[in-house]
Amino acid sequence: MTSRRGDAASLVAAEFARERPGPPPGETSHTPAALLMGDPAPHLALALRDAGYEVTRWHRFLTPGQLCTAWPPTGRFDEVWVRMPRSSREAAMLLHAAAARVVDGAPIHLYGASDEGIRSAVRHFPAGMAVPRPALIKRRCRVLVAVRQNPPPRADGLDRWTFQAPVDWGAGERAWTFYPGVFAYGRLDPATALLIGRLPPAGATGRVLDFGAGTGVIGAAVLERGGGGEVHLLEPDAVSLAAAARNVPGAVPVHGRDLSAVSGPFDLIVSNPPIHRGKAHSLHTVEALIRDAPDVLTRGGTLLLVAQRRLPVGKLLARTLGDVRVVADHRAFRVWSGSATGPPPRDVPSEKRRGAATARRERSVRRRS
Ligand SMILES: C[S@@+](CC[C@H](N)C(=O)[O-])C[C@H]1O[C@@H](n2cnc3c(N)ncnc32)[C@H](O)[C@@H]1O
Repeated sequence: MTSRRGDAASLVAAEFARERPGPPPGETSHTPAALLMGDPAPHLALALRDAGYEVTRWHRFLTPGQLCTAWPPTGRFDEVWVRMPRSSREAAMLLHAAAARVVDGAPIHLYGASDEGIRSAVRHFPAGMAVPRPALIKRRCRVLVAVRQNPPPRADGLDRWTFQAPVDWGAGERAWTFYPGVFAYGRLDPATALLIGRLPPAGATGRVLDFGAGTGVIGAAVLERGGGGEVHLLEPDAVSLAAAARNVPGAVPVHGRDLSAVSGPFDLIVSNPPIHRGKAHSLHTVEALIRDAPDVLTRGGTLLLVAQRRLPVGKLLARTLGDVRVVADHRAFRVWSGSATGPPPRDVPSEKRRGAATARRERSVRRRS
């Protein structure tokens, strides 16, 4: 995901990479290779390239123009750099993957900001590493470095990080697969449960899109109701999508981050959309979803979404959809629905759909001015 989160940490890591002592790569027998894991900011990659490294960038979140998969590429790297992720479990997972990609004696770096937990992150390094040390502390950010002494204890691969826990959305408990860093790890989110409770009755859903599907809970509840329609699961996090593919094998997984990734039309779009990005409060994704939904909904098709009560979702929905209503009201969340009232869309290429969405936005701006 592109975000301003971590820019400072990336700058500090870049400074460390530029200023650390060591032989210039030109004096070694081969071009050194560095693997960067999960950093959307360009600074460190640029610093390493300037220093003569061949840099491979890997992300689990869809990031335009970059390698985005559920697990980092195999290979032997001379060093690995891990951007501090959001959860400690994910940090442990990524550091294990990093340790499997260097030889004994090679360094692994973990960098991040104090408010992201970097100060206590030493404990996430796997056994088999020398004691990690802070190599640079600056602007409330740290670069921790540890050298691999032995292979990491767990074998390499996402499967080794599978966590199964029971979830129940009202139809009985089932074993659900989670991986570190997915939404609502090991549990059912209360907002998701509220939305599932307001799904249309069996047979009334047709072709369905679960937008921001996470581990696939909402899509699974739709499929379980029957009716024979297709369910598509759209999700930018390749790790979440891998969990969803295991949890809901009957659905169509789509690695994407907006509606241009899917082919409509859909009778129903369901979503517990992402609202928070890092610490910033952002409505960007939900705004885009609501703006573009009419392009992929059938006439009369419904967008059903759950969001925090205080968010202006009703106002946003009323800009592009009709028959907007609150269908569930909880202390913290509301489930909203809106219907597409325009002509049914054809299955048009995403570029044209984007064009249509832009034209609609421009018309709406002209009307308001
Ligand atoms: C609140 S979680 C809901 C997950 C799942 N539907 C559930 O209810 O358990 C939002 C999900 O949206 C995903 N997401 C983030 N940015 C997105 C984007 N631009 N487009 C679609 N999904 C996105 C996140 O990775 C996350 O899995």
